[in-house]
Amino acid sequence: LLYEQVAGEIESQIQNQTLSPGDRLPSVRQMSRAQKVSISTVVQAYIHLEQKGLVEARPQSGFYVKPQGFQLPEPDTKKPHFKSTSVSIGDVISSIFGAAREKDIIHLGAACLSPELYPSKKLNRLTSQVLKETPLHSAQYDMPPGYLPFRKQLAKRMLHSGAKVRAEDIVTTAGAMEAITLALKVCTRPGDTVMIESPIYYGTLQVLQSLGLKAFEVPCHPRTGVDPDEVRALLKKEKVKAGLFIPNFNNPVGSLMPDENKKSLVQIFSEKEIPLIEDDIYGDLTFSSQRPSTLKRYDNDDWVITCSSFSKTLAPGYRVGWVISKRFQEQLEREKFISTVATASLPQYILNQYLADGGYDRHIRHLKDVFSQQIHRVSDTICQNFPKETKFTRPLGGFVLWVELPKHIDSVKFHDQALQKGVSVTPGVVFSARGSYKNFIRLNCGNLWSPEIERALKKLAQMAHGME
Ligand SMILES: Cc1ncc(COP(=O)(O)O)c(C=O)c1O
Repeated sequence: LLYEQVAGEIESQIQNQTLSPGDRLPSVRQMSRAQKVSISTVVQAYIHLEQKGLVEARPQSGFYVKPQGFQLPEPDTKKPHFKSTSVSIGDVISSIFGAAREKDIIHLGAACLSPELYPSKKLNRLTSQVLKETPLHSAQYDMPPGYLPFRKQLAKRMLHSGAKVRAEDIVTTAGAMEAITLALKVCTRPGDTVMIESPIYYGTLQVLQSLGLKAFEVPCHPRTGVDPDEVRALLKKEKVKAGLFIPNFNNPVGSLMPDENKKSLVQIFSEKEIPLIEDDIYGDLTFSSQRPSTLKRYDNDDWVITCSSFSKTLAPGYRVGWVISKRFQEQLEREKFISTVATASLPQYILNQYLADGGYDRHIRHLKDVFSQQIHRVSDTICQNFPKETKFTRPLGGFVLWVELPKHIDSVKFHDQALQKGVSVTPGVVFSARGSYKNFIRLNCGNLWSPEIERALKKLAQMAHGME
């Protein structure tokens, strides 16, 4: 394809160092004239390079070559197990997070942002406005499916991911966690098996455990997520009642499934008439100029259930999320009522105003600039200080890094020692139903870079060397 040729030429210029990190690529217009190709071909080529992690778009400025100086490799993808397993990770998770909460520490464990990165000032202003306009907001329940104007805003935002959904098919929830729980409740019974990717967010595993569900783990490639061919093959091994994946920037590995793979995954589940739950909580936080597609985009037969929230972008404390499905809408609404009766009204009113005001896209652009820089800083510090056997991921969105320490390091012990030194990390074992990833840790890069964070990372590096 023509755009691949254009991209290939730029890639070889980056490799032979004609173009260096920080260099600006020619403008799209200049490049189109120079190469005698259309503007859209150049745009496609630049986006392709961006998705490969070679260049980055800076708003109102252009495309720049990214630093390429990583000397440490990426972690490998695990081999699949061919059967499901029960999940019993809950106690380990509770004890780990209980310990981290008690101390005044540098938080490189939990996936959260520095508070100043959330638009709290604006949200507080909108709160005053909402209180004035609807003084009786708290005097009634906002019954499921939730506040309609807000659901209309959510439906509009789904267009950015290529999906056309109706406000009527959205149920608002208490965060993404409740959305996922409701989605699993409507398509499974205790004892059923759910196909998930591995590693996966530990909260998902806790939900599986509390609903008495078994996990059938599919290995997740650090760049491209699950392989649809592998999913197809594994689905032949065991009866699966639902799939649950994080196609955009999986937590913890940061993988982004290519569109072709997303399409295939939806097709596989649709053919078998198995509900496919997607957790899209990080989808808006891409470093690329193009918002990645949701699985919902390819959901012609209505088997995809999309779950998300604003916890990673606007306000985790509001506890507002949503779940989208036409097929299961009524059941989701019923389960929501049983679960918590209704979603709190005030946060929905405020978020509705925020989305209507139009500041969301600007805010997201700011966040992703901050995150991509912080990921680079943490990556550079790892390369310069950690043992040479260390491997880590190259996420193209989100704000966490998945780090493979030398084989002999037990990450739970590493976590305990780190806490004693005033730093939290999340040990790898909590990201799998089988307690795999014993020598992995997840590092949060959502905190604004500071000398304290650099010192904390160097402490971790020292510990890793000391455990050699
Ligand atoms: C992948 C993923 N899903 C869901 C959640 C939970 O989101 P919420 O706080 O909206 O319930 C998190 C939070 O860390 C997450 O990383």
